[in-house]
Formats: sequence, structure tokens, C-alpha cells
Amino acid sequence: PKIVFMSFDGARSVVDARAGDSVMRAAISNGVDGIVGECGGAMMCATCHCYVDDAWIEAVGARADGEEDMLESAVGVVKPSSRLSCQIRVRADLDGLVVHLPQRQT
Ligand code: FES
Repeated sequence: PKIVFMSFDGARSVVDARAGDSVMRAAISNGVDGIVGECGGAMMCATCHCYVDDAWIEAVGARADGEEDMLESAVGVVKPSSRLSCQIRVRADLDGLVVHLPQRQT
């Protein structure tokens, strides 16, 4: 499935992600700037913060247990659409998912 990353300055990167991978992993393996993923997906850093595009919020689903607490440590502004991208699992039905990246992660 394709995932679309929109950077803070409007740059758009479309990557081919593997189902089962996290959105964070898809960004890192494809060299997308703007996702750091310092803790490797253990929900301990909040440097994988992203905003799920309004059109996709419902399909992506609810935050994981504990995600809310970790999001409080995010450097960027936390919005209702905020997610830790390491906690979003890529699925076939999320093909075309659009996520927006904060200005900075650290
Ligand atoms: Fe650290 Fe997501 S990669 S919380």
C-alpha cells in the first residue's frame, strides 16, 4: 500500500509500504525526512509524531493504549489527529493514507 507523507513545508513523499510494517518504519526505510523514530517503535520517544489526514482518521482507528501519554512528550503541537506513527500498522485498506508531519521532532 502507498503512504503519502506531507512535510511541514508542503513537500510530498509517496512511499510503497509493506502491510504489517508501522507507518514509522515505512518512513524510515524510505528515507522520508520528518520522522525520527528514535526508540525504534517502542512508544518511548514521540519522535515519530504525525497528524493523520482528516479523511483517514476513521479508517486508521483509535490510539493505542499508552499512546496518549507519550504524545504529551511530542515537540510539535498535539492535535486530535495526532498519532505516534510507530503505532499505526500499514494495511491494504489504508492504501493512499495521507499523514502530515510536524515541523520538528526533536
Ligand atoms: Fe518512538 Fe514511535 S518511534 S514512539
